[in-house]
Amino acid sequence: MFRVAVLASGRGSNFQAIVEHERFGVFKGVEVAVLIYNHPEANVARIAEEYAVPSVFIEYRGKKRTVFEEEVLGTLKEYDVDLACLAGWDQIVGARFFETYRWRLMNIHPSLLPSFGRKGLNGRFVHMAALEYGVKVTGATVFYVDISVDRGPIIVQEPVEVREEEIALYSSDLPGDRERAVEMLSERVLVHEHRLYSKAIQLHAEGRIRVLGDKTIVDYDEDWEEEWREREQPFIEHQKRYWARKRHALEEVLRSPC
Ligand code: GRF
Repeated sequence: MFRVAVLASGRGSNFQAIVEHERFGVFKGVEVAVLIYNHPEANVARIAEEYAVPSVFIEYRGKKRTVFEEEVLGTLKEYDVDLACLAGWDQIVGARFFETYRWRLMNIHPSLLPSFGRKGLNGRFVHMAALEYGVKVTGATVFYVDISVDRGPIIVQEPVEVREEEIALYSSDLPGDRERAVEMLSERVLVHEHRLYSKAIQLHAEGRIRVLGDKTIVDYDEDWEEEWREREQPFIEHQKRYWARKRHALEEVLRSPC
C-alpha cells in the first residue's frame, strides 16, 4: 500500500474528501496512514476520529520552527509515509522538510496558480482577490511544494467559471452581498478541490508524475481519466447529496427573519 499523510490546521474538508476517496474505493493501492494537525481545537481532528484515521497533534507554539518540523518529520517516518499532503496547513515549510520530502510533498491552492498565489493570500481572500480582479475563470491547483511557498511544479489544475451572478453580487452595495459572492465562489471551487487532490495523489502513487526542473510531466491519457471518473462516481454522488443538504440549510438561514 502507498501511504499518505495529510497535514491540516483547521476545517479539514480536503482531508475528509481524501479519506472518502479511500472509503468509497476510488483509490487503487492508496491509504491514508495518518493525519497530522497543529491546533488542538481543529475541526479536522474530529473528522479523523469519525473516520477512525490515526491522528497526531503536534504543538507548534513556543517552539523553534526547526524543532517543530523535526517532530513532523519524525511522525511521517514513524508512520512510514510515502507522500505528505498539505491541506489547509498554516505553517510555512522549512528547507529540511522540503528537502527530505522533495517531490513527495503536495499542496492545494484554490486558484489557477500563478494567479492569486501571493504570499499571505489564502482562504477566502484568494476568492475575494479573484472577484476583485474580475476574472471570468478561476479554479484549483495541486502542486509540489518547494521552498517558494505557493510556487512549485504544478501537477494538475481544474478551471471553474466565475458566474455573472457572483460578479454582480460582489459589485453590489447591499450589506452581505459581497460576502455571499465570496462564499458562493469558494464553495464551488471547493467541490473541485475535493476531487482534484485525490486525482493528483493517485497519479503520484502510480509513478506517473515526472518533475523536470520547475515543471511536471504527467503521464496519463483519456482512458486513465475515464476509468478514474468511473471509480470516482460513488464519491461524486455522495458529494452531490452533501452539497444539496448544505445549500438547503443555507437557504433556510437566509430566509429566516433576523
Ligand atoms: C482549501 O481551500 C485549500 O485550497 C487551501 O486551504 C483550504 C483548506 O480547506 N490551501 P480545508 O481545511 O481542507 O477545508
